[in-house]
Amino acid sequence: MAEAPQSATTRAHSNIAFVKYWGNRDNRLRLPANASISMNLADLHTTTTVAWDSALREDELTIDGAAAADPALKRVGDHLDMLRARFDDRRFARVSSSNNFPMGTGIASSASAFAALTMAACAALGIEPAERELSALARLGSGSAARSIPAGFVEWLPGESHESSFARSFAPPEHWDLVDIIAIVSREHKRTGSSAGHQTADTSVLQQSRLRSADERFRMVKAAILRRDFEQFADIVEEDSNLMHAVMMTSKPPLFYWEPVSLEIMKAVRHWRQADNLRVCYTLDAGPNVHCICAAGDADIVEKRLRSLSSALDIRRSAAGGGAQVLPADY
Ligand code: PMV
Repeated sequence: MAEAPQSATTRAHSNIAFVKYWGNRDNRLRLPANASISMNLADLHTTTTVAWDSALREDELTIDGAAAADPALKRVGDHLDMLRARFDDRRFARVSSSNNFPMGTGIASSASAFAALTMAACAALGIEPAERELSALARLGSGSAARSIPAGFVEWLPGESHESSFARSFAPPEHWDLVDIIAIVSREHKRTGSSAGHQTADTSVLQQSRLRSADERFRMVKAAILRRDFEQFADIVEEDSNLMHAVMMTSKPPLFYWEPVSLEIMKAVRHWRQADNLRVCYTLDAGPNVHCICAAGDADIVEKRLRSLSSALDIRRSAAGGGAQVLPADY
């Protein structure tokens, strides 16, 4: 008789990087070219159940209730292959994953997805790796997933090996009441995803220069967060995002993630900070949506102004969030 499947359910939050990583020193191990800093997003999360089942002949994946095919199925299968090899288990798994932000919104889901998947796959096997090991394992699925394992404000040092490249928390979510207001300007799926994008980073003549100055920005943003110094934080976060996009735009082939409306919002955000003293700054990942990071006291007015620009199709808002967690059976 087949053994009963072993299952577990977990939840992990998405994260937004304040100091970005772009480019890997090792693409297979996803060892990043530079250290990065992020904040977990409490209100954007992925919930994933993994059931290891000896009756299965292949892995099965559903995302938001619908059966998923390649390339998502292949990417999840490859990650499970890595875990099967590491934990010496040959069973296939039934994976069911749901996001509380629809995948079609253009908000990255790979960080929360691979953090939740990695933790659920381990928990279902009865394995509870230390946080740093879990973060390193999640990194193999998607680099930014390493940062969705620990709580709150997180740093990821590049490391030189699989074991030494993991993220850790340097301040809990309650440390600073920052809010991320995401102006969704496009729901289109990215034409060049970040995994492929990272591999082109070195083709830009600007990448080496970005990397030479990245540690300084890392130190300054971390210090600004620890001191809750919005002014210093805002200038460097915007510069760091602009530098990453300058590399993207000058890579071969060039990657243009911004849309005209992204730039319109970026300019408005700078104006609101400089002319009206609102504590808000912008940062953009590998897509056109604009993350407006603001102090909680200014969040309502920033959201109102974003809505009045009418270039945003939709708006999502989130405070700092906790780390990935295993949910109780009756969650
Ligand atoms: O780990 P990936 O492949 O999701 O890459 C994420 C890259 C950026 O979002 C653009 C920057 C970052 O540090 O999150």
